[in-house]
Amino acid sequence: MPASAVPPAPDFLYGTAWKEDRTAMLTEQALRAGFRGIDTANQRRHYFEAGVGQGLAAAYRAGVVRREELFLQTKFTYQGGQDHRLPYDPDADLTTQVSQSMASSLEHLGTERVDSYVLHGPASGHGWTDDDAEVWAAMARERDAGRTRVLGVSNVSLRHLQQLEAGGGPLPAFVQNRCFARLGWDRSVRAFCRERDIVYQGFSLLTANPEVMRHPGIGALAARAHATPAQVVFRFALAVGMLPLTGTTSAEHMTQDLASRDLALSAEEIAAIERLAG
Ligand SMILES: NC(=O)c1ccc[n+]([C@@H]2O[C@H](COP(=O)([O-])OP(=O)(O)OC[C@H]3O[C@@H](n4cnc5c(N)ncnc54)[C@H](OP(=O)(O)O)[C@@H]3O)[C@@H](O)[C@H]2O)c1
Repeated sequence: MPASAVPPAPDFLYGTAWKEDRTAMLTEQALRAGFRGIDTANQRRHYFEAGVGQGLAAAYRAGVVRREELFLQTKFTYQGGQDHRLPYDPDADLTTQVSQSMASSLEHLGTERVDSYVLHGPASGHGWTDDDAEVWAAMARERDAGRTRVLGVSNVSLRHLQQLEAGGGPLPAFVQNRCFARLGWDRSVRAFCRERDIVYQGFSLLTANPEVMRHPGIGALAARAHATPAQVVFRFALAVGMLPLTGTTSAEHMTQDLASRDLALSAEEIAAIERLAG
């Protein structure tokens, strides 16, 4: 499937990391607040994917939302990124680990197919390895078997993406990266994505950029728009074509984060934020 065949993804993703036994409650609350995209991972160390499934089930039961109205995204995580609670046999080959992890995710999430399946991070920070190529091919087979609509990669550099492309494998539909303003908001990776119709998902937009959050220019923009600096950052992210993630645990911030979509910022203001720190 070409990268352009991206499913209709919502314009905001609710992230479920680090919520432990509040995961189900917060997932349901996010759906009630209006989020229609959920990001998780089969990595018990940072995510409680089964809790996400419990939250989804509660929302379905209460009539808040139906499965087909949701965009569900989860991830395959190498053993190096996991603790002892593995969703696969550590002695199995990587191809088998991908299919075991996917089967476990589908069970956790109570669905027969996710919308996006993401490689949580390549095996090496230096480049796209043979292990990555094996995992990526296994993920493509999961997609071909109908267990995910599209594929994505996370925590990648421009070099990873160029090597993935040169290897001739399918391009991802999504790239999910921590977005640092001091790197021009991940300018080079975003440009690679834009040229190939890959949707860039940005996380840690607030926490990776404390200098932006306290920048007087952002404060002035926020004051003029009767908004918060966090809302200005999310509005900026949307305006430059990102699909932002928020993992807020606050009901008020859930509402504010979604409301940032309606903030009026001019093209000049967006351009000024893009140049702010990088
Ligand atoms: N692919 C990866 O490797 C990876 C890595 C990290 C994260 N992620 C994904 O991205 C999601 C989001 O993670 P994140 O790193 O961006 O951090 P986050 O969990 O969204 O944390 C953001 C921080 O910003 C605060 N916040 C949110 N909305 C706010 C608002 N409107 N005003 C003021 N503060 C606000 C939150 O506090 P409150 O809770 O008090 O609102 C929280 O302290 C994760 O849940 C996960 O799904 C992926």
